[in-house]
Amino acid sequence: MHGNEAVGRELLVFLAQYLCNEYQKGNETIVQLIHNTRIHIMPSLNPDGFEKAASQPGELKDWFVGRSNAQGIDLNRNFPDLDRIVYVNEKEGGPNNHLLKNLKKIVDQNTKLAPETKAVIHWIMDIPFVLSANLHGGDLVANYPYDETRSGSAHEYSSCPDDDIFQSLARAYSSFNPPMSDPDRPPCRKNDDDSSFIEGTTNGAAWYSVPGGMQDFNYLSSNCFEITVELSCEKFPPEETLKSYWDDNKNSLISYIQQIHRGVKGFVRDLQGNPIANATISVEGIDHDVTSAKDGDYWRLLVPGNYKVTASAPGYLAITKKVAVPYSPAVRVDFELESFSERKEEEKEELMEWWKMMSETLNF
Ligand SMILES: *[C@@H]1O[C@H](CO)[C@@H](O)[C@H](O)[C@H]1NC(C)=O
Ligand SMILES: *[C@@H]1O[C@H](CO)[C@@H](O)[C@H](O)[C@H]1NC(C)=O
Ligand SMILES: [Zn+2]
Repeated sequence: MHGNEAVGRELLVFLAQYLCNEYQKGNETIVQLIHNTRIHIMPSLNPDGFEKAASQPGELKDWFVGRSNAQGIDLNRNFPDLDRIVYVNEKEGGPNNHLLKNLKKIVDQNTKLAPETKAVIHWIMDIPFVLSANLHGGDLVANYPYDETRSGSAHEYSSCPDDDIFQSLARAYSSFNPPMSDPDRPPCRKNDDDSSFIEGTTNGAAWYSVPGGMQDFNYLSSNCFEITVELSCEKFPPEETLKSYWDDNKNSLISYIQQIHRGVKGFVRDLQGNPIANATISVEGIDHDVTSAKDGDYWRLLVPGNYKVTASAPGYLAITKKVAVPYSPAVRVDFELESFSERKEEEKEELMEWWKMMSETLNF
């Protein structure tokens, strides 16, 4: 995300190599993962900032140079602030998800959005992403939504409807990174306030409030659940330390990608087997719906438990199913929705049958 935070982009290059090498060696875990998962890797959201940071002479880099893009915009404060909309909706009634539905034009016309932000918004909204991580440096923690406080205060735990699964996702990252999850790790800088950190995870807003970040934007505009990972106390560490960062993060990155195979998934189709795109998948007790993609496929991340899951779409009768969800793998739950017009035809036929029977019985 930030050009001066160099560890993440190096890790992603290592990750791409690791996935390819292990796949070629026939490593079962990686072969399985690659055969069952669409993986997108973007090593840098801010290449201009990185050039600026890297071109400073000497090993010791300034803490801020290269954070922003070439226009001086901090990309992780530049996304449409959907938290503010959702906090109003919580009070006045209104959706918690897909807040930019039919409003993509607003993104294109918004002159405050950097080209990098616009490009990545289109990417997020055009591909049916399920899970993502936004990589940073400067601290060591896996941070989950919301990032912005409800009250506007500087620090305050601000849970989203999916708090349970987000805590679990953040832990799936931190628990495989020994320094990140070490409860006795001293703060990166001695005056840092790490009081919100639990086993290497934190609610974003409990740590400090961030308006306009990518993490909450993804959750509130698309089906994508995103956490923010702070990978290193130093933002631009010396080259010879990169291998040790890879060693600390390798299992975390793989574990995190595997998290996509949790919860429920399946297809929403009509009675003829045609896909229903944009169907709404809602889970009783969690005020955050996901939608089906163009082939009717959907994914809904959930912690283990018993759920009532409903699929609905305009013009169709909704169906609710009870589902028992284990830790993993995801449970396959397909929905076949009957359209109102089909239902009307059926009702008409039933009525005709009844009428025929009645007239035969009564002899008129
Ligand atoms: C295969 O990949 C997994 C996941 O990264 C790793 O834990 C395991 O050690 C690898 N197996 C071998 C034989 O290298
Ligand atoms: C689904 O919704 C999106 C945006 O809301 C729209 O662009 C798309 O055409 C819809 N697809 C279908 C098949 O209705
Ligand atoms: Zn950052």
